[in-house]
Amino acid sequence: TSPLRLGLAGLGTVGTGIVRIVQTHAALLEARAGRPVEITAISARSRSKDRGVDLSGYAWEDDPVAVARRDDVDVLIEVIGGEDGPAKAATEAALAAGKHVVTANKAMLAMHGQALAELADAKGLALRYEAAVAGGIPIVKALTEGLAANAIHRVMGVMNGTCNYILTEMESTGADYADVLADAQALGYAEADPSVDVGGIDAAHKLALLSAAAFGTRVDFGAVAIEGIDHISLTDIEHARDMGYRIKLLGVATHRDGRLEQRMQPCLVPEASPLGQLEGVTNMVVVEGDFVGQTVYQGPGAGEGPTASAIMGDVVDIARGLVIPVFGRPAASLVAPVEGGSGPASAF
Ligand code: HSE
Repeated sequence: TSPLRLGLAGLGTVGTGIVRIVQTHAALLEARAGRPVEITAISARSRSKDRGVDLSGYAWEDDPVAVARRDDVDVLIEVIGGEDGPAKAATEAALAAGKHVVTANKAMLAMHGQALAELADAKGLALRYEAAVAGGIPIVKALTEGLAANAIHRVMGVMNGTCNYILTEMESTGADYADVLADAQALGYAEADPSVDVGGIDAAHKLALLSAAAFGTRVDFGAVAIEGIDHISLTDIEHARDMGYRIKLLGVATHRDGRLEQRMQPCLVPEASPLGQLEGVTNMVVVEGDFVGQTVYQGPGAGEGPTASAIMGDVVDIARGLVIPVFGRPAASLVAPVEGGSGPASAF
């Protein structure tokens, strides 16, 4: 059978992880996908930087749009990041050229996901984004496939690994906010501009995408009420602990009677609860469906291996011919919800 040929746009933490998985697990990927999975072409800002992987077998392009348009590329993997610019240009070029796209780009999808999804769905192309939400946790697949028979009422959880890392490290080491943030950056968890993490924006991007997948509503990032953790002090954390609580940056999206409420804010959660036990760069997502009840998903929310793992799971689906609509139903059918707004999120 013919190989599935990948064009990789971006060679940062995640892109390097993808090269490592493809090189480590060629046989496993072929067995799971039913055909070989190969990287054919790569683009990145620097060609010469040593990333500890052998890139000699791949064609090199300076422009990610050129990767998207190559005849020997079936799927564009977009791991450049940024809501506009080259990431969006390459994604649009790929879809226009009839190529599937797998992306980790939550910012781009939160802002342009509705339009990109309509483009992909109309052409019968996959636009997969498991890696964009909750890192290695297969939460998009859970919502769009595993729980497809449920009306979902609520999705909530911890969706930014950097913030959870900062909050739990400050608590356990008493370290200063700035030092812990610098660690998170050094470990490759934080965004290029870390104020996007600590300001709650990155997690809000993810919540907007999960809402669309869960409720069939249009992607509406502008409707998310956002408060970050940048003003949380060690004293706040210690006071919470004294009362048996921990502070978590929690996203909650509730859909009831056509009304959608999306909130991202620091919350007190009981120390003994699953959310209260969450340490480090971990994410946790709780989903409530009418027939299934409550399900809980936990795992690494950022970093090279987990994010690359989510990307390659999407690639294997595409290799098998699984092209489901982007948000589990055609984007053109997603409804515009009436915004909610019923006071603080408090039901846990
Ligand atoms: N900066 C993000 C986080 C990366 O810390 O969760 C994964 O989306």
